[in-house]
Amino acid sequence: MPARLEIEGGVPLSGAVAVSAAKNATLPALATALLTARPIVIENAPALADVTTMTRLLERLGAAVTRDADGAMRVQVERVASSEAPYELVSTMRASVLVLGPLLARTGTARVALPGGCAIGVRPIDQHLKGFAGLGAEISIQNGYVEARASRLKGARITTDLVTVTGTENLMMAAAGAEGTTVIENAAREPEIADLARLLVAMGARIDGAGTARVEIEGVPDLVGARHRVIPDRIEAGTLIVAGAITRGDLLVTGVVPEHLSALLAKLAECGVTLDVGPASVRVRGPQRPQPADVITSPFPGFPTDMQAQVMTLLGLADGLSRVTETIFENRFMHVAELARMGARIETDGATAVIRGVREYQGAPVMASDLRASAALVLAGLAARGRTSISRVYHLDRGYERLEAKLAAVGARIERKPS
Ligand code: EPZ
Repeated sequence: MPARLEIEGGVPLSGAVAVSAAKNATLPALATALLTARPIVIENAPALADVTTMTRLLERLGAAVTRDADGAMRVQVERVASSEAPYELVSTMRASVLVLGPLLARTGTARVALPGGCAIGVRPIDQHLKGFAGLGAEISIQNGYVEARASRLKGARITTDLVTVTGTENLMMAAAGAEGTTVIENAAREPEIADLARLLVAMGARIDGAGTARVEIEGVPDLVGARHRVIPDRIEAGTLIVAGAITRGDLLVTGVVPEHLSALLAKLAECGVTLDVGPASVRVRGPQRPQPADVITSPFPGFPTDMQAQVMTLLGLADGLSRVTETIFENRFMHVAELARMGARIETDGATAVIRGVREYQGAPVMASDLRASAALVLAGLAARGRTSISRVYHLDRGYERLEAKLAAVGARIERKPS
């Protein structure tokens, strides 16, 4: 049933809110189950639509997915029943391409639908495929599917042409099951990479340099099962921190890893947001009115593209002119038109948006278009005068676990309604 969120804005959020486990660390962690016949147990897998999609895909490939009594998710692929990731699943979630590397390492074959574009951009996977070819796989594209074959993957030196998060993850998983040593140069440095490495090491792989631009992986023939706790979701944490700031609230966001948030916190401080950073929490107090600031997204440890829409929403209320440049994806300003319907004054020109701060947003009916754009609309609704109704909330459910319940618990007037 397509749902919508109704928000009565203007309430300063206060109290404490806990962050869930990271979607973008859980998805590769689930894919590692293909690398071994032994069970992988993820203790804190978040209840998200994308996690469900990934478990469905793994079941199609032969996985048994169960929940232990303590809520931990157990995934076991005793035998790979199929090496094909069908289009109808891959087209709903591009991270399905993360099964390519593990399937190649485990069975020597993989047939995965090309993900196609999505709302925020073309998002090709040429770097993934180039890396697999470097490991000795034969790659061909037939009828919208990637066909990959490798009798035995062999370790190699791979330099990606650009920084790719899931590309690095896919290659790390393939290399963990390859013969010999692989070095990935120009690797992504996102915290999710180091988290995946931690799990692969627990499974018996030998990995050095995860989290840096040079990752070295020593493959082993028999990876074993492991138990894993996924890192907190730094993007959910950032979204909640901006919620505290934009509502002029006083919010304690708990269960965070502060060093995963450095670029965001520095930018929010520049906007006049008061931040008290503890060992695993951030207390955020919003200014009466934020100061303008310029934002340029870049790979970790730079300002995360996944927080661009949320911070632009805050800047839309700033006392002056801000500039946001999106360098990662070519079409990640889908939230701008909807924010404009709430009174924001934003002009985009290619990869740059110029934001003229206004005093307040007016509540309005708006439509979500992609995961982080829908988060931005929630933030605008929380700050706006009057009622905001957000349709196509399924976009939000892909990456936020019970967001409206978490926000309501700290004072927001927000509820989910059937459309
Ligand atoms: C991951 O996507 C995240 N998803 C994205 O989060 C995030 O926005 C992105 O990294 C950047 O941080 C997951 O981890 C599941 P990339 P990914 O490969 O890996 C180009 C969210 O909101 N590129 O790092 O797909 C690509 O088009 C999602 O949770 C190639 O050209 O991103 C993009 O412009 C959205 N060829 C840039 O590189 C390739 O082979 C970065 O993409 C691969 C990527």
